Amino acid sequence: MLVGIDALSMYTPGQYLALEDMAAVHNVDAAKYLVGIGQHKMSVPASDEDVVTMAAEAAQPIVTDDIRSRLSTVIFATESSVDQSKSSGLFLKNLLDIPSTARFIEMKQACYSATAGIQLACDLVRQRPDELVLVLASDIARYEQGGTAECTQGAGAIAILIASKPRILALDPETGVFSQDVMDFWRPNHRRTALVDGKLSIDAYETTIANALSDYVRKNSVPLSTLARYCFHLPYTKMASKALNAMKNSFPEECSQVAIDHVEEGLHYGREIGNTYTASLYISLLSMLERTTEDLSGKRIGLFSYGSGSVGEFFTGIVQPGYLGHLPRERHFALLSKRRRLDYTTYAKWFYSPEANADTALPCMTRSQFRLEGVYGGRRTYGVNPIAQPAEAQEERVCVG
Ligand code: CAA
Repeated sequence: MLVGIDALSMYTPGQYLALEDMAAVHNVDAAKYLVGIGQHKMSVPASDEDVVTMAAEAAQPIVTDDIRSRLSTVIFATESSVDQSKSSGLFLKNLLDIPSTARFIEMKQACYSATAGIQLACDLVRQRPDELVLVLASDIARYEQGGTAECTQGAGAIAILIASKPRILALDPETGVFSQDVMDFWRPNHRRTALVDGKLSIDAYETTIANALSDYVRKNSVPLSTLARYCFHLPYTKMASKALNAMKNSFPEECSQVAIDHVEEGLHYGREIGNTYTASLYISLLSMLERTTEDLSGKRIGLFSYGSGSVGEFFTGIVQPGYLGHLPRERHFALLSKRRRLDYTTYAKWFYSPEANADTALPCMTRSQFRLEGVYGGRRTYGVNPIAQPAEAQEERVCVG
């Protein structure tokens, strides 16, 4: 039975910081960020947006009445969770009118957890093929202001519907895994910004992809050379070339030249959005599927998921005939092209403003559909935005103050 990705929908906030503006403030050559790191823009959430509102925005277009009636489980993957106890998915249950017969859970293992969620979802659907599982991956990548990691921040979410007879990507059951206990990136409970040992994190990523690939090759008969594309977790797009080098060093003969030649297709969206932790690999997959000029129907692609700390998984899937008709490309293009440009001061004010924990009513800042209205006695309340505007109706403009 084929099981895999039946629908994919992305959201990223309607504001961004151009990395040349950050370079000017940091007194750094802009080419370091634009070429050396490979990032052009960084999405910036409004103060009334969080992982719940971003995931709701991503999921809303695919949660139709038919989907609602078959939805058994909502798996929320994040490392920027809003509560230590309650699953982030439950906060959006009413926003999306998800039936009470669905179960909700939240998963955590840094940027990897959406992949764990997808593996679990596939097994649930293999047990009961008529049911659907919604995997939501949503994150805000936030580091210390002024540090070397600030240029790799970002925000976004993706909604992934797992079903039998999937319309986009049928996932192969055999995968390759590598885990180790390493302090390359972490965020203790009391901190809002992540701590990172940058160079160690790159080493850990490279070690993990090489070993996950070895595990995949050991368990699978599918030759790596037959894969049409590779997609990677992208903390920043330059990481893709480091990942390819690590793959080629470990498997110099077996790597697919076609996949190497087309790696750029998967980088477009990440370069415009920045790191989205759990969502990053799947935004890269979306970028590849929506930006390639070739029909990939019937082709097998390889995906590498990495979560610091660390767990990595290499897995594959076959692109399904007619997949392009099920991808909302125009909406995704509008999301990226109609954002407001923030100057550095405004970005810093929005991105580093203190978290709303005490009693706070939040002003309407986002133009998206859903918003965090306020926090009262530690209870978060979400609602529909009275001043929402669809991305297609917005114009790109500079926003100061
Ligand atoms: N023109 C062009 N390129 C330039 C340049 C210039 N003027 N100046 C520097 N560069 C190049 C450098 O040569 C370097 O390229 P290589 O990596 O190919 O050698 C690149 O720009 C970056 O320069 P530095 O190594 O000097 O960068 P840095 O020390 O300031 O920090 C970083 C880079 C370690 C990635 C830092 O941004 C960071 O810590 N980021 C967060 C951690 C991270 O993303 N790690 C990735 C793996 S972990 C993971 O994947 C999980 C996750 O999501 C966090």
